[in-house]
Amino acid sequence: MSTSIADILNGKRVLLCVGGGIAAYKALEVVRRLRAAGAEVQVAMTAGAQRFVAPLSFQALSGRTVRTSLWDESAEAAMGHIELARWAQQVLIAPATADLLAKLAHGFAGDLVTTLCLATTAPIAVAPAMNHCMWRHPATRANIALLQQRGVRVIGPEDGLLAEGESGPGRLSEPESIVAALASGSATHGGGRDLAGVRMVVTAGPTYEDLDPVRYLGNRSSGKMGFAIAASAARRGAEVALIAGPVHLDTPVGVQRMNVRSARQMREAVFAAMPADIYVGTAAVADFAPLAIAPQKIKKTAGGEGLKLELVRTPDILAEVAKREDTGLKLVVGFAAETDDVARYAKQKLADKHLDLIVANRVGVPGCGFESDNNAMIAFWPEGEKAFSEAPKARLAEELIDLILERLQA
Ligand code: C5P
Repeated sequence: MSTSIADILNGKRVLLCVGGGIAAYKALEVVRRLRAAGAEVQVAMTAGAQRFVAPLSFQALSGRTVRTSLWDESAEAAMGHIELARWAQQVLIAPATADLLAKLAHGFAGDLVTTLCLATTAPIAVAPAMNHCMWRHPATRANIALLQQRGVRVIGPEDGLLAEGESGPGRLSEPESIVAALASGSATHGGGRDLAGVRMVVTAGPTYEDLDPVRYLGNRSSGKMGFAIAASAARRGAEVALIAGPVHLDTPVGVQRMNVRSARQMREAVFAAMPADIYVGTAAVADFAPLAIAPQKIKKTAGGEGLKLELVRTPDILAEVAKREDTGLKLVVGFAAETDDVARYAKQKLADKHLDLIVANRVGVPGCGFESDNNAMIAFWPEGEKAFSEAPKARLAEELIDLILERLQA
């Protein structure tokens, strides 16, 4: 979509509810970015949030008196909480704590923030932030699923280092990504459910080709890009089947996941998941697999001074899918990870494999591509191209889904 964030958010009345977590300080930057995009921002804080950041900081950045209590008579006299709930064209909760999500899911209205959320008819987006065990807890998963069913948009959280020194999913998305996601959601219909009724099959991660019971040939794909695409598509209403190679990533909310190991297994799972409307092959599928898997561990002495492995080509899943026989596919998207001459190889693959779209990125560049949280990519289709500058994979996934929709409707 060529519309900019400022085009979408300019003049929009955003109610930002700040929850009580350490990530509350990042909400200051969210206000700054929303204001820079031309939005009017009214901040409301929970009691917990006020213990982390002073309301005055939000007041200075938003240019409006911050609302902190249901029982503040002078604030209520200026704009009652029901009036405020009606004023909002978009509600954003950042950070959304586990407690706040639980209250929202169950319709609690014991304080200002929860009351505003219950009283508003504006679309609600939540950007969760919490400890990774709390995020993974079945209670939180169920609350998130319930909120999503009701059309609440979930932005993040990201996987990474958490405030308590542990690592895992639970980091608040970066303010830049939150604002971009908010804009892309606002730009689409039905509160961001512009992929409703669409079935998408996504492959992600590496494949492992076993040599013997303990060794395999693999690659450094983390699966993050494919998981981000699956998450974004599900959030926007698609029915998503995610075929994942061996990765250490949580299943995105609302996504149906199948785990596989080898290229052969991935191929089987892909065809079992058909028919579909869109296929997105982000997986780094091995091109070669051992001719045979040794039943016992290959001994050091097996090959004398060296060891020759006989490898055979794996099935090219993408090329086979792109033939579209009995798949119902309307759009086939491939990925190309290249170390050099990215554009030339990508365009060649687009033509050779009869794809509708190919997304190329350069690997071997520090900070981008495999194993990284960021990426920079360029997409090609038969009549055009679009570059995506370096950004977190979650944000790129949103932009890529915009492009996929555009190509689907072209
Ligand atoms: O030709 P290359 O392997 O670089 O193409 C990459 C694209 O092809 C990716 O989308 C990948 O998922 C897909 N692919 C595949 N099956 C293979 C090899 C690659 O689906 N055996």
